Amino acid sequence: MTGRSARCRRSAVLVSVLAAALALTGLTPQGRAPSAARAAAGTAAAAPYQDPSLPVTARVDDLLSRMALDDKLGQMTQVEREALQPQSALATYRIGSVLSGGDGTVSPNNARTWADTYDAYQRIALGTPLGIPMVYGIDAVHGVGAVRGATLFPHNIGLGATRNPALVERVGRAVAEEVSGTGIDWNFAPCLCVARNDRWGRTYESFGETPGIPASMTTYITGLQGERLGAGPASVLATAKHFIGDGGTSGGTDQGDTRLTEAELRAVHLPPFAEAVRRGVGSVMLSYSRWNGAKLHGHRHLVTDLLKGELGFTGFVVSDWAAVDQLDGQPGFTAEEVRTAVNAGVDMVMVPHDYRTFLSLLRTEVTSGRIPLARVDDANRRILTKKFELGLFEKPYADRALTGTVGSAGHRALARQAVRESQVLLKNEGGVLPLDTSAKLFVAGKSADDIGNLSGGWTLGWQGGSGDVAPGTTVLEGIRAAVADPARVTYDRHGHGVDGSYTAAVAVVGETPYAEMHGDRPGAMGLDEEDLATLARLKSAGVPLVVVLVSGRPLDIAAQLPDWDALLAAWLPGTEADGVSDVLFGDHAPSGRLPVSWMTGAAQQPVNDGDGKTPLFPYGYGLGYGTQPPPPAPAPTPAPAPEGCTADYEVTGSWTGGFQAEVTVHNASSGPMDGWAVTWDPAGRAVTSLWNGSLAVGGDRATVRNAAWNGALAPGATASFGFTADGAPPPSPSASCAAS
Ligand code: GLC
Repeated sequence: MTGRSARCRRSAVLVSVLAAALALTGLTPQGRAPSAARAAAGTAAAAPYQDPSLPVTARVDDLLSRMALDDKLGQMTQVEREALQPQSALATYRIGSVLSGGDGTVSPNNARTWADTYDAYQRIALGTPLGIPMVYGIDAVHGVGAVRGATLFPHNIGLGATRNPALVERVGRAVAEEVSGTGIDWNFAPCLCVARNDRWGRTYESFGETPGIPASMTTYITGLQGERLGAGPASVLATAKHFIGDGGTSGGTDQGDTRLTEAELRAVHLPPFAEAVRRGVGSVMLSYSRWNGAKLHGHRHLVTDLLKGELGFTGFVVSDWAAVDQLDGQPGFTAEEVRTAVNAGVDMVMVPHDYRTFLSLLRTEVTSGRIPLARVDDANRRILTKKFELGLFEKPYADRALTGTVGSAGHRALARQAVRESQVLLKNEGGVLPLDTSAKLFVAGKSADDIGNLSGGWTLGWQGGSGDVAPGTTVLEGIRAAVADPARVTYDRHGHGVDGSYTAAVAVVGETPYAEMHGDRPGAMGLDEEDLATLARLKSAGVPLVVVLVSGRPLDIAAQLPDWDALLAAWLPGTEADGVSDVLFGDHAPSGRLPVSWMTGAAQQPVNDGDGKTPLFPYGYGLGYGTQPPPPAPAPTPAPAPEGCTADYEVTGSWTGGFQAEVTVHNASSGPMDGWAVTWDPAGRAVTSLWNGSLAVGGDRATVRNAAWNGALAPGATASFGFTADGAPPPSPSASCAAS
């Protein structure tokens, strides 16, 4: 080989080595990455993944082909923003997602600062060789609670009491606009948990104790994402959480063990997720809890076979906060934990702090083959698909046109309506409610004038906190605004000064804020000493006593109830608590219905619809005002069918294009039943999800047979199943029942 040719050969070899190296980094030969800007401007030959005119699948395929292993591993990594030290670590480690956990904040805390912060991190992400935008997640579980000045809506238990899926979709839309206004593009909501024991500290994050209400409230997902992810400027990625059974743990222990057969797990806890998947939810977060002793974060059968396989979930699965490094019960990642979670089907790990250790272990598990590269590619495909669908490659920065919606008058008006509809009137002796605006009122209680108590957890911090934490309207402010003469309203937190001259006393009492395990109540579930003392002081005045209960769940109040003339369950209304006073004065007649059974006492927990126990107030209970049309008369009990059972088919909710129904099976015979079958004419309305039974459809008949656990009925006992279906609800639903 001559000298020159040898030199040519060496140069050629050098060029090919350099080209190969560049390809690994994703840089073009010119040393520049195809950029979204250039692609958008059409000024350079953009890589296919930068071309929004191509199908998402083609863009994903092209991008994957350009990604080095470290690019792919980074996409599977979510880091707490404040753990990125220095900020450039986002680029160095190719981090694909950032979050702000419950205590995440910015200073000064306002929507603009959040948007500026978001953009600063996005710029770092876009500066990486392939320019893959990061996706930023936050818990906007009742509005963007981390942002001071945001509209805070009722927590889910109150929204469940509205039984109004269409309203909840509007709430989701408003939350999406406020989230987008801060730049953030992913909301770790809604919780589709089915709270089966009110001792659980996250009961207020549940829409209700039966699968039916959470399933119907998946309209919240459509509100967040739009009819499809990326539809419209305010579309944000929603998260169905926490898969699966988080609300069914023994004793209501947070992150505990849900001990159920698979049939029971599917009947009670799966339907909301089936409905969420049907609605196109983009992500699912796993539960910390265990199913019969096995951690969900390592459960391949439930995560891959059931969620991704049987339900056909095509979004991505994200772990909960530090849940992977807790798999062995010890803090700190191990290779086995990383391998177990990723091979079970976790696509993105919410690390959230020690990302260097996580990535090092993940890389070793992949290069050793213990995590197949195909699993890594599947996870990346799922994540990148959602980033493309969200439009992040074309519009990676905060949409400042939406920043002004944070805390807007329109959103606050919507929140006030949601508060009104969430109020459940449980007692109204002598028609003490509605109050007259000319009344002379004494208002007391620790939560009457406390936005923090009215908002609960996930408010300006993970655990929330009492006090004047955010702009809004308290119950007391609502009362003063409603009466003809505010001077006739006296307030003392403890009730000091009350006497017999008042028309009525209003006590706003209940729980102070908490979140997650900090809200578990394994012992007593009654009112605290301050509230009891305040109530006794008011009672001693001898005037009618109206109690407004601000709590994240039913409380043990049976012993005090006889001393109260009226009881209104307000749940956790948020910043627009004038919605409570709207009901107190009759501007909105109470229409809320209990989304959870109300215990006779703590010892009765768990108590749920259809379990054969007799609660103080049953699931679905709620009074109206006398002047309103009386609650619908109970359907006349049909004569027992020859087989001895009846089926009461009730439409419990409807929305555009679909409806929800609940069927109560009654053993009207004098003997026990071992099983039952209910049939009806679906009249072309396809059942889209069903719980507490198994469905068979043939011809013009739909038949539901009992589940394994609700077939046996003693004489007079009832069981129920529910379903969602396409189309308009039937005008006069009816079904027939037969013992089987
Ligand atoms: C929490 C919660 C989860 C939340 C996540 C991020 O521990 O379990 O609901 O989305 O961490 O804050």
